[in-house]
This record gives sequence, C-alpha cells and structure tokens, in this order.
Amino acid sequence: MIVLITGGLGFLGSHICVELMDKGYQVIVADNLSNSNIDVLDKINLINGKKPIFYNVDVCKAKDLEQIFTVHKIEGVIHLAGYKAVLESVVNPLKYYNNNITGTLNLLELCKEYGVNRFVFSSSATVYGDQVSPLHENMEVKRGTNPYGETKIMIERILEDYSHSNKEFGVIVLRYFNPIGAHESGLIGEDPKGIPNNLMPYLTRVANGEYPYLNIYGDDYNTIDGTGVRDYVHVVDIAKGHMVAMEKMKNGYDVFNLGTGRGTSVLQLVETFKGVNNVEIPFKIVDRRPGDIAVAYANVDKASTLLSWKAQRTLEDMVRDSWNFQLRNNVNNLL
Ligand code: UFG
Repeated sequence: MIVLITGGLGFLGSHICVELMDKGYQVIVADNLSNSNIDVLDKINLINGKKPIFYNVDVCKAKDLEQIFTVHKIEGVIHLAGYKAVLESVVNPLKYYNNNITGTLNLLELCKEYGVNRFVFSSSATVYGDQVSPLHENMEVKRGTNPYGETKIMIERILEDYSHSNKEFGVIVLRYFNPIGAHESGLIGEDPKGIPNNLMPYLTRVANGEYPYLNIYGDDYNTIDGTGVRDYVHVVDIAKGHMVAMEKMKNGYDVFNLGTGRGTSVLQLVETFKGVNNVEIPFKIVDRRPGDIAVAYANVDKASTLLSWKAQRTLEDMVRDSWNFQLRNNVNNLL
C-alpha cells in the first residue's frame, strides 16, 4: 500500500514511517521542515535500511501538494502536518486556523479528486476539555479550550461531514494523549526547535544541563501529589496504532483514543526518570500554566476491542528511551 504521511519527519511522523516501512508499506512524506529536520531521513534509513520518498512541501500549498498525487498512486493518507503549540495558538490564532484547516481541506480536495479513500487524522485528547477522566470517545467534545484545540475539533467535524458525503471514504481520528519516549535505537525522537513547550523534551534538556531546572506548573491540583496528571504513552505504541488504524479501517468515520489508560503525575514522571536513568532533575514549583487541567487519562477499551491495539510499553521504557535519544542526539550535534 502506498501511504502519504504529512508531517512525516516530525516526532510522531518519523516513528510512523519506521513502523509502516518495516511492514512493507511504501511511504511518501510531505513535510515543510518547519518543526523537523531533514537528517531524520538518514536516521530512518539507518533503522530500516531504506528511506521514505520525501517532498519538501507545505500542505497549505495545494498546487505543490497535488504534484505528489500526480506522481504516486496514493492509497491512504496519514495527516499529521499542523501547528501544535497551545500558547502560541492563543497569541496567533489566525496562524493556527489558517494553517491547520487549510492544509486539511487541501488534502481532502485532493483525496476526492484522486479517489483516495483511506485517511487517518492526528487529533488530541485536548478535544475533551476539562471533563472527568477516564475520557471516553463517546463524551462530547468541549469547545473553548484554545485555538489549537479548536482546530482539532473543526477538523474532526470536517472529516465526519466529508465521510457522510462520500460513502466510499473511510476515516479514523486518533486522539492521542501524551506521546513521549523514542525509538529504541535512539536515532529518532522528540527534538523540537526552540524552547520545548511539553514536559518530556524540557525534562531531558534539564537532565542534560542545557536548562538549570524544570518548572513544575503548580502543585496545588486535586491529584495524588498536587501536580498535573496525564496519560503518557510511548511514541512507538502510538505509531503502531496508526498502522492498525490503516489496516482495519472501514468506510465511514470513527474515533479512537490512543493512551495507556493510566495517569501519572509530573512528580511521578520526574521520579521515574531519575530512578531509571540515574540522573538528577532539579526543579522549581511555579504557578499553574494557564489553560492546564488537573487530570487527563484515557479509557482505551474501544481501541483494544475494535483495533486490537493496546499500548505495550511501560513508563520505565518511555523515560529510558527519551533519555537515550537525548544522549545520542548530543553526540550527533557534536559531530
Ligand atoms: N508541565 C510542567 N512543566 C513543563 C511542561 C509541562 O510542569 O515545563 C506539566 C503540565 O502542567 C502538565 C504536564 O506537565 O501537567 C504535561 O504537559 P505537556 O505540555 O507535556 O502536555 P499537555 O498535557 O499540556 O498537552 C499535551 C499536548 C497537547 C494536547 C494535550 C492533550 O502537548 O498538544 O496534551 O491533553 F492538546
């Protein structure tokens, strides 16, 4: 099967490339390198012994994107390309609406024109807003979180409406919880440009000495130790989730959570990281981050029952692999 992965050189995309290529899929990547690095192609080659076909294309540029559909007989699309920084989306909402919505519409127009009827979309647990965990796919989505979250809700809606109009079209929306970890080789992982927004890439840079300490955003939540609780899930498990979604997809629209079903607090994650990796993580408790919620973890029964997908990797695996990637990345940066 020939699959186009938009945003395919990013943190999730690169791991999905590895899993799909390993299973014999032909993978085409469209990525404009806005938050990824061209070196990832060589890393994938080192892991898999081959590279995906790469196009430096912005999904918002319809004509450029169409080139890919004219050259390759695309059979499925995994759509990851999009901006994802929550705070930036509040400061610059038009950038987010413009980019995330336009890119998706362009892709869907091309899917329609070229008869591509298999589509996986990268959504987020953020669409649940602040509801009581475990969060279930049947729960209503909650508007009003932030423009980034709104784009996820809007795109889910666009996909559902399009699937109603085209009975041959199959789409699976995957709502990720908190992907961390890295490929066990340490060759690919999360390497955001600039100061990381998310906990794990910040934490590994503290462990590394790049930043003096971790800011922990609040210790007065109603949780086990007062710090925020999330459902951390290994990126390789998430990548495998995309493969089974592609394989088991039926016509019509469906939504699945990808998480472990377990909540871990920030302090628990820090302690596990220190224990497994034998490194110090200085931290300071600071004010809550605006927009954060106390607890978010998944109900994962639906993916288990209908996709036979379950996260296999433990929190220990996640912190070990994240740190291993950071260490290898340091070496690469020195070369
Ligand atoms: N946190 C810190 N210090 C940091 C960064 C994060 O204490 O430097 C805390 C947060 O307050 C939160 C937890 O660590 O309690 C996780 O924060 P992340 O920023 O790593 O992840 P979020 O849960 O805030 O957001 C993630 C994705 C979003 C997605 C959301 C869905 O980044 O894209 O999950 O729940 F929308």
